[in-house]
Amino acid sequence: MPNEKVVSEHYTHGDLLSDIETALITQGKTIADVTLEDLAPVDEFHIGGRRATEHFLDQLNFTSQSNILDVGCGLGGPARFAADRYNIHVTGIDLTPEFIETGQVLCQWVGMEEQVTLHQGSALSMPFADGALDGGYMIHVGMNIADKAGLFREIYRVLRPGAHFGVYDVMRLNDGDLCYPVPWANDDSTSSLASPAEYRQLMVDAGFVVMTENNRHDFALSFFQDTIAKTKAAGGPPTLGLHVLIGATTAAKMKNMIENISAGYITPMEIIAQKQE
Ligand SMILES: C[S@@+](CC[C@H](N)C(=O)[O-])C[C@H]1O[C@@H](n2cnc3c(N)ncnc32)[C@H](O)[C@@H]1O
Repeated sequence: MPNEKVVSEHYTHGDLLSDIETALITQGKTIADVTLEDLAPVDEFHIGGRRATEHFLDQLNFTSQSNILDVGCGLGGPARFAADRYNIHVTGIDLTPEFIETGQVLCQWVGMEEQVTLHQGSALSMPFADGALDGGYMIHVGMNIADKAGLFREIYRVLRPGAHFGVYDVMRLNDGDLCYPVPWANDDSTSSLASPAEYRQLMVDAGFVVMTENNRHDFALSFFQDTIAKTKAAGGPPTLGLHVLIGATTAAKMKNMIENISAGYITPMEIIAQKQE
């Protein structure tokens, strides 16, 4: 079962803020004029980046002024995007201290520290009162959490009745040995995949009503192929991209993701649900 300390160490970069700042300056940006769009190549840490976030969150009916939960928020890219797009407050929580510390500075750079608050902590035990949040979502996090029954019970607890909740995770489709490393794990000791049917059942057991599911397989493969084509055409990756966050193993992880998805072993899936009124 993935140990939270090992998971957090897996994601820790060591000098992330400074590397992001250096990449922005190399692009001719200054901290004073950095925008949400400028940060998107590095702060959306999931398949499909900003495009995937937009497709996913637009299904969640977040209403203006509400307080929305981002479980496993990472650097807070989806949180800042959602706060800006839907005029909401977003409360993020993430295990990795460096992601939260860096994410808080990124919020200050774009003037969103009031609209987006990021907390360090575990999704399995969140420091929020029962029913405190008006809705929520989780993007590419469940792959590191074995106790998904406990996870969905905890999420259900902190949401108000009637709240929408969405999951966009990499899920297990068919049996077969995965090629490692992948972005969330170097081997299977920190990987904990479940099938869409298992997610659905655990969400229903927690009390959610599952409304829709979308398999994002085709979108994922075209996203990876586009990224590779652009990198080849430009003679290397852009100055700011996920390689700044992931480091030297980025190309191997991308290649393995294409193989694992093409083989039908895994796929990114969206599940949209609602807490009962
Ligand atoms: C692939 S990143 C995705 C980050 C963010 N959701 C995004 O899409 O940009 C996975 C994130 O899940 C976080 N995470 C893993 N296990 C967690 C747990 N038990 N509680 C909270 N966060 C967790 C990691 O720290 C990491 O930031």
